[in-house]
Amino acid sequence: MKVLVTGGAGYIGSHTCLTLLEAGMEPIVIDNLCNSSAESLARVEALTGGKIPFYPGDVRDEALLDRIFTEHTISCVIHFAGLKAVGESVQIPLTYYENNLGATISLCKVMSRHGVKAIIFSSSATVYSGDNEMPLKETSRTGGCTNPYGWTKYMGEQILRDTAKSDPAWSVVLLRYFNPVGAHESGRIGEHPNGIPNNLMPFITQTAVGKRDHLNVFGDDYPTPDGTGVRDYIHVLDLAKGHVAAIRYLLSHTGTEVFNLGTGQGYSVLDMVHAFQDATGITIPYEIAPRRPGDLPTCYADPAKSREVLGWQAEHSLKEMCRDSWNWQKQNPNGYEG
Ligand code: NAD
Ligand code: UFG
Repeated sequence: MKVLVTGGAGYIGSHTCLTLLEAGMEPIVIDNLCNSSAESLARVEALTGGKIPFYPGDVRDEALLDRIFTEHTISCVIHFAGLKAVGESVQIPLTYYENNLGATISLCKVMSRHGVKAIIFSSSATVYSGDNEMPLKETSRTGGCTNPYGWTKYMGEQILRDTAKSDPAWSVVLLRYFNPVGAHESGRIGEHPNGIPNNLMPFITQTAVGKRDHLNVFGDDYPTPDGTGVRDYIHVLDLAKGHVAAIRYLLSHTGTEVFNLGTGQGYSVLDMVHAFQDATGITIPYEIAPRRPGDLPTCYADPAKSREVLGWQAEHSLKEMCRDSWNWQKQNPNGYEG
């Protein structure tokens, strides 16, 4: 079964391509490589012995999409392609709206023309409003996003819901990811952010490899057990497997359904520092810094619906998340550039 994977050369996309191949499916990738390298796909091919047809280009290029749907009989689409840097989205909001919403709209138009009406969308825990009780359920309040990136996810969900409402043949699965970390255990594929990492785990691994002298812990006076921010970290391969489970659901249902992909377990920033140290034996120097604007004290999932409906749950431990993130970072200190 052929699955079109937009943004498939990226961090979550490359791990998902690997998992799809291992599940006997055939990923086909379109990616404009604006935040990735085609080397990730070459490495997935080497790891699995599979082949991934790759179309370099923009998802907003409808002629290119038309060509892909003509050349392949595609059963469904996983739509990862998008810009995702929260801070950058505040600086260049129009670029974010144009890219993230434009790609989703073009993709749905072309899918519709070719009669392929099954899509999985990469959404985010960021669509939940900040005033919810924890853990977050799929029915928790959404909206009130604190940055344009978050709004593109919120609006992307709405575009897909409305598309599914307009035509009962559509099947839409909205997956709300919590905090993906880790890498394939081989250390051959992983996450390599451009410039100074925004996210905690890449900052920790870059500190461990000597690229940063210390970690800034953004706030130690939150109402959490140790005062630092609590998040639901999930191994990227568990997240990838969630997509395989979602494909099975997608192809046997119509309408729109939303699922959290998280572990249900929250860990603080200092828990992460200690877990990394325990897993790797490397000390991470850190300093307490002011809170980061827009951050919530606590954010973690209730993953019960995914477990009950998709039959999926996260399996990797925090130790494995730390070990695999480090294994990737130390083998590839400069990402795919060697
Ligand atoms: P990533 O940047 O590694 O992957 C996204 C890929 O999309 C990149 O390879 C990029 O080159 C490509 N891309 C972007 N715009 C494109 C366009 N117009 N046409 C073609 N390709 C395009 O990011 P990721 O961490 O793998 O995230 C994948 C998806 O999951 C994104 O939609 C992101 O918003 C979402 N998400 C990520 C996280 C996270 O913490 N990583 C959390 C929640 C949701
Ligand atoms: N943190 C630090 N120091 C750092 C980086 C982060 O203390 O250098 C703290 C943050 O304050 C927060 C926690 O570590 O308490 C996690 O921060 P991340 O930036 O790694 O993750 P966020 O939960 O802020 O956001 C991430 C993605 C969003 C996505 C969200 C939910 O960046 O795009 O997870 O999926 F929407």
